[in-house]
Amino acid sequence: MSKNLSELSGRKGLRENLFEELGVAASQTGAVSKEQASALADEFLMGKANVYGAATFYDFLRPENQGKKVYACNGSACLVAGTQDALHNKLKGSFTEDEIGEMCCLGRCHENSAFHYAGRNYSGADIDKINDIRSGTVVPMDKYHVATSGTQLLTAPFPGIAPYYATLKKALSLSPDDLLATLKVSGLRGRGGAGFPIAFKLESCKNTAGDTKFIVCNADEGDPGAYSDRYLLEERPHSVLLGMIIAGYITGAGHGVVYIRGEYPEAVAITQAAIDDIRTAGYIGDNILGSGFSYDFKVIKAQGAYICGEETALLSSIEGQRPEVRVRPPYPTQHGLFNKPTVVNNVETLACIPWIVENGGDAFAAIGKGRSTGTKLVSLDGHFNRPGIYEVDMGTPLRVVTDTLGGGFRKPVKAMHIGGPLGGLVPVSKIDDLTVDFESFSQAGFLLGHASVVCLPQEYPVIRYVEHLFRFTAHESCGKCFPCRLGSTRGYEMVDKAINTDYKMDRVLFTDLITTMEIGSLCALGGGLPLPIRNALQYFNEELKQYFEN
Ligand SMILES: Cc1cc2nc3c(=O)[nH]c(=O)nc-3n(C[C@H](O)[C@H](O)[C@H](O)COP(=O)(O)O)c2cc1C
Ligand code: SF4
Repeated sequence: MSKNLSELSGRKGLRENLFEELGVAASQTGAVSKEQASALADEFLMGKANVYGAATFYDFLRPENQGKKVYACNGSACLVAGTQDALHNKLKGSFTEDEIGEMCCLGRCHENSAFHYAGRNYSGADIDKINDIRSGTVVPMDKYHVATSGTQLLTAPFPGIAPYYATLKKALSLSPDDLLATLKVSGLRGRGGAGFPIAFKLESCKNTAGDTKFIVCNADEGDPGAYSDRYLLEERPHSVLLGMIIAGYITGAGHGVVYIRGEYPEAVAITQAAIDDIRTAGYIGDNILGSGFSYDFKVIKAQGAYICGEETALLSSIEGQRPEVRVRPPYPTQHGLFNKPTVVNNVETLACIPWIVENGGDAFAAIGKGRSTGTKLVSLDGHFNRPGIYEVDMGTPLRVVTDTLGGGFRKPVKAMHIGGPLGGLVPVSKIDDLTVDFESFSQAGFLLGHASVVCLPQEYPVIRYVEHLFRFTAHESCGKCFPCRLGSTRGYEMVDKAINTDYKMDRVLFTDLITTMEIGSLCALGGGLPLPIRNALQYFNEELKQYFEN
């Protein structure tokens, strides 16, 4: 990343945003042309190569996407559900092969057969109504179970804007220091994967001098299998927005940016509508409720790149730079968006803040287990009898999630990939050993991550899943460091060759490769992929050994 480019991009602030302009440029044809990139480069005083290089990084802006009319989901959940070949064949009845693209992932993991057409997502039996969808006579449906087994914190019914924003009045009557102390007591840790305590980030940003600061909500939810952030944005957007406003008040940030993945068009529209509603009600804008505190929002629709979920790549993305991961330090709380102090937090983390302010840090800390306080949303895929979003107290036995809430498996399953592509591959024999909290998973050699569950059915070859994970990483790598950029591609090539020819992989070479990725990668994409691969080697050796020579 370049600090100069951050400054140049920041000249127009969020008002005229280069990344958004790239999206507008591609809206007609599906890609940004060299001429359009050149004109934007002149407007933002940047190099043409910078702008064209950024545009061509994204799935929805690059030339290969030109002319696509419909997109089939190629995420892990749809892949292992085995629905996408039939979907593709059905799409071919209405579109030419060139008009069919791919998206990863649409967050319809609860029923699969997912596809995107004309700005809307569809799944399940929708494909059989493709002609009605094309003529605009079908309203997309999206039904999944939502329930809780403990404290109803994030899934509680929404009481309406005025009663809900009473918590904002309460927050603004307290000092930022008092609110920070409450969050410290709560023990709230990031729900986006790393589990970092939010209070430390807010405190660091608060203590960094600056007239302009940002609170960025990471709503890129790229983990295939995860749709809990989508649930919050579509069903409980005000908990996220209010959490961001309070975070802004604590740190002195006047701007909230909600960066939402482009694969979630409904979430983008609903979040924007919720912001418009609270502007009308006077809960954002200048001098909110006479407090002297001013705050406003900007929604940014992403353009299809998993790495943009990594917080520093996300900041580069908003700036219209190529979304490469940044070396830390400096941390975003010191040099973040446009080089200004910035806090980046996950949707679910921010959504917990209003409850904590309303009920107290102690009440939140009393829920959960050990250092994992509060509740956690878990996303269950279509292999469960009751797929959906479940809110559980941290520390809840995994068996309660799979059996009591999820209703057990619809068909025989051998493993669950929990926490996204970089999470652990948990064999079903381990279900009774795990509880839903950060420590239980890491102590057992897995990762809670964002707590999405993608099931590997009994008949699905583990080697194919390993191949899928390498290919996913190779496609999504930002390319900044070679262990990930080269390692993911080499890994894919080795596994692919072992599947399709009589080539046998050298186990030492293979282990060297994943160890190099693990210890040499700059971020948790290249560094995290080895975890599920190692789990696969450990728990499914009988199935995998035929692909190795020693
Ligand atoms: C490859 C990669 C992808 C990530 N994707 C997401 C994501 O989609 N959403 C998210 O909140 N965090 C994601 N993260 C984690 C973020 O970098 C960051 O830790 C998080 O947004 C901080 O928020 P939290 O502390 O509230 O979890 C990702 C990290 C990596 C390395
Ligand atoms: S690990 Fe991969 S995604 Fe992360 S910085 Fe390196 S190349 Fe980029």
